[in-house]
Amino acid sequence: MNRLIHDIKRSHRCGSLREADIGIEVVLMGWVHNRRDHGGCVFVDLRDREGVTQVVFDPEVDKEAHALSGDLRAEWVIGVVGKVRSRGGNVNPKIKTGAIEVAAVRLEVLAKAKPPPFPIEEEIDTSEETRLKYRFLDLRRPGLQRNLILRHQFNQVVRRTLDAEGFLELETPFLIKSTPEGARDYVVPSRVHGGKFFALPQSPQLFKQLFMVSGFDRYFQIARCFRDEDLRAERQPEFTQVDMEMSFISPADIQAVVEKILVEAWRALLGVELPTPFQRLSYDEAMARFGVDAPDLRFGLELNDLSDTVRAVGFKVFADTVAAGGVVKALNLHGTGDWSRKDLEELEEFVKPYGAKGLAWIKVKEDGSWQGPVAKFFKPEEQAAVAAKLSLAVGDTAVFVADRAKVAHAALGNLRKHVAKKRNLIPKGTFRFCWVTEFPLFEYDDETQRYFAAHHPFTAPQPEHVEAMVKDPGRVKAQAYDIVLNGIEIGGGSIRIHDSVLQQRMFEALGIGEAEAKAKFGFLLEALQFGAPPHGGLALGVDRIMMLICGTDSIRDVIAFPKTQKQTDLMLDAPARLDPAQLAELSIRVAGDKG
Ligand code: AMO
Ligand code: AMP
Repeated sequence: MNRLIHDIKRSHRCGSLREADIGIEVVLMGWVHNRRDHGGCVFVDLRDREGVTQVVFDPEVDKEAHALSGDLRAEWVIGVVGKVRSRGGNVNPKIKTGAIEVAAVRLEVLAKAKPPPFPIEEEIDTSEETRLKYRFLDLRRPGLQRNLILRHQFNQVVRRTLDAEGFLELETPFLIKSTPEGARDYVVPSRVHGGKFFALPQSPQLFKQLFMVSGFDRYFQIARCFRDEDLRAERQPEFTQVDMEMSFISPADIQAVVEKILVEAWRALLGVELPTPFQRLSYDEAMARFGVDAPDLRFGLELNDLSDTVRAVGFKVFADTVAAGGVVKALNLHGTGDWSRKDLEELEEFVKPYGAKGLAWIKVKEDGSWQGPVAKFFKPEEQAAVAAKLSLAVGDTAVFVADRAKVAHAALGNLRKHVAKKRNLIPKGTFRFCWVTEFPLFEYDDETQRYFAAHHPFTAPQPEHVEAMVKDPGRVKAQAYDIVLNGIEIGGGSIRIHDSVLQQRMFEALGIGEAEAKAKFGFLLEALQFGAPPHGGLALGVDRIMMLICGTDSIRDVIAFPKTQKQTDLMLDAPARLDPAQLAELSIRVAGDKG
């Protein structure tokens, strides 16, 4: 007999047969999803990446195939030849192939399988550890298959769109020297140069700038980046960027290209038409209204600045904070008059980790009077002024933080999101994009008491702020922009410094001396002296975008082989020790090891 796999071709995928195919003979191959023995007939749901087809082994159709089907177990790989027939009265409307079944005339087992450690189903309560250890089985689940297929489609949209816009897909090296994006480097020891190390790129930043110096004009790459940082829900130690750079442009040019990619992706993957241009907010406006630089615009609850209104009220904390140059900011929580004291105390606990010293609150009672620990400090006309500013109505609760602007914004900006979640104010299935522009060039670090580059040290200041770079760094704005979706930063970029003198001045402002700058970035400073065109770009975080497209809270659900929160790979059991011979070859001795 001809062997199915050698001589007979698969004719269809397991998700493709419909009523119109009734009567034809087909060859299917796939995994046994489950097997049900109904006395006379054996039913098998046969699965591949496109779906499931019901196969019937009916002794009246083929005795031999029916007899063989008795051995089948979940996850065995089989090939089946059979005829498509109607399911008659037993149509399953939940699946695409639910109107038909395949009556088998031949069965061949292509591979047996051990019982899997967990069922290949969506809703299973198996631990994530087990699933990551057997990632190759977890990836058989339809949900993860869909996510990775969508990811493939996203990459195709990127390539199509950028190719049409004249971008060249160029590759850059992995074995390099440190690029400063603010995280620690992963390093790779050199065998040939014992005691020396390569660093893996935190991004292709400097190479893409050099491509512009080389005259490539428009570059992109779907690039892997490596950052050794503490992991949060939306971070991985290696992640993927759509990395782009363009010459002779302004921020609006690169933003338009990014909008094209995202509009096309949402159309192709989700069938959603995104309105353009996306909303634009300056960094200062985003902080003032939403308290964070990646605002979630899907709901209201905006912050209000009451500093001027409360500067003279009887509540000392407020008056003193404003006198000392701080701010008093407030949120009207609208219609939460039924929240108990305990609920409000929970909110106060929520804001403390952001540095807030307290959370003052007032409730507006039926008769319009105020209730709460600080209510008594406000005279009627002061209450009226605050009420007007916050649009307070009966039944509303307002909360206040008095502090340095940085603390008040962080506390209330995060409280705003917390309350919105708690009160279900966030509409499902909506996508609110915005550009946040005019970021500060520097960020002050309270701990080390010095300025850092807010984006990276190659970002250009606004032209009119160049003079202030050394004298008054806190005031300088950058030609930098982020793209934000539903409160998550999905990309960031800037116009770069293309003048070596200005680049050197930037290093100075960051406390990087001439010698250090030369040692670390000599090649860049040189390149900028050989005719560097004005240029700028941006990188999109593919993993975060895919989380939002796939509607998952875990970045691990959109990466084929992700790391755990503890930066390990449970399937490979990595990182791992090296054997002593390999260490010796690399001139490495591990602290604590005998040697
Ligand atoms: P930036 O550091 O802002 O810019 O990174 C760009 C985007 O990459 C995503 N991202 C991450 N995603 C998953 N895990 C991580 N650990 C992680 N870190 C960052 C974010 C972010 O917006 N070279 C510059 C870009 C430029 O200036 O052109 C850069 O890397 O979505
Ligand atoms: P106290 O005067 O310390 O008893 O505080 C009275 C109320 O003011 C309490 O509800 C505190 O949470 C609140 N509170 C104290 N400090 C601040 C602050 N800096 N900002 C906002 N509320 C505060």
